[in-house]
Amino acid sequence: MERLNDCVAVVAGGTGSVGEGVVRSLVRDGATVVVPYRNDAKRQRLEEYVQDVAGDPADGKGQLVCMPAEIGNIDSMNVFRQELLDRFGRVDLGVACLGSWYYGYSLHNMPVEHWDQVINDNLKTHFICVRTLVSLMHERHTGVYVMINGGAAELIAPEIGAVSISAAAQLMTARVLKQEARGTDIRIHSLMVYNPVKTRDRKTEIVDDWLSAEEVGGYIGGLYAGSVPRINKTIHRLYTRSSLPQ
Ligand SMILES: NC(=O)c1ccc[n+]([C@@H]2O[C@H](COP(=O)([O-])OP(=O)(O)OC[C@H]3O[C@@H](n4cnc5c(N)ncnc54)[C@H](OP(=O)(O)O)[C@@H]3O)[C@@H](O)[C@H]2O)c1
Repeated sequence: MERLNDCVAVVAGGTGSVGEGVVRSLVRDGATVVVPYRNDAKRQRLEEYVQDVAGDPADGKGQLVCMPAEIGNIDSMNVFRQELLDRFGRVDLGVACLGSWYYGYSLHNMPVEHWDQVINDNLKTHFICVRTLVSLMHERHTGVYVMINGGAAELIAPEIGAVSISAAAQLMTARVLKQEARGTDIRIHSLMVYNPVKTRDRKTEIVDDWLSAEEVGGYIGGLYAGSVPRINKTIHRLYTRSSLPQ
């Protein structure tokens, strides 16, 4: 377990099923974790979920700070960015754990509005988070940015093609960001999680060896601290608990 007491982290998608576990893990390990949220009920659910591990940073405890923001909207995220700077002065760790699943049509007859929705949720949100968070890291030439991705980026299945296409583009986004960060101390990682994640919402058909959302968060803490293997690699692939990179 890493101690992250000096870390100011932002988890975009922290109200989601993987994101909430990442938030809990980072708060438990002492980080200040800022989550932009758009849904008040989900904010409250997240706050309740981390309550037992949060505390006063003066006592070395982690804290959760939720700020209203619409991740798909650059104007809203510019306001978020300024508030983040006013309150904390920087972001050390950015995590983008975003997206929506889609199952429906083959590409040749997929309604355009479905396509627009998938691209908006799974790609445009990432671009806006890059504009919001990676730009702040470039101002200080330092920071760690982690984009959570799934096996869909490299596996093809019919009727979910738009998810695979946006996930592959998300993977390329991380590789582009890495090139654009050359000459700085900014590290960019794409964390590819291949199996389903054990989340609070997943009630059935759970395989014990799958990673939990908190374990994904623990790995991100290790990426931030530089304590996981192959730290200079952009792409980190995670499969099961028993096959975690050693
Ligand atoms: N779940 C798994 O088993 C699993 C396995 C491997 C990899 N992954 C990867 O983990 C990542 C997150 O997946 P998840 O299962 O946690 O998804 P999720 O539960 O649906 O959460 C997605 C998050 O993204 C946010 N979001 C989506 N579209 C948005 C938009 N247009 N504007 C603002 N916020 C938006 C959601 O906000 P709201 O909370 O406001 O809706 C939510 O916080 C994905 O990259 C996925 O590929 C998941």
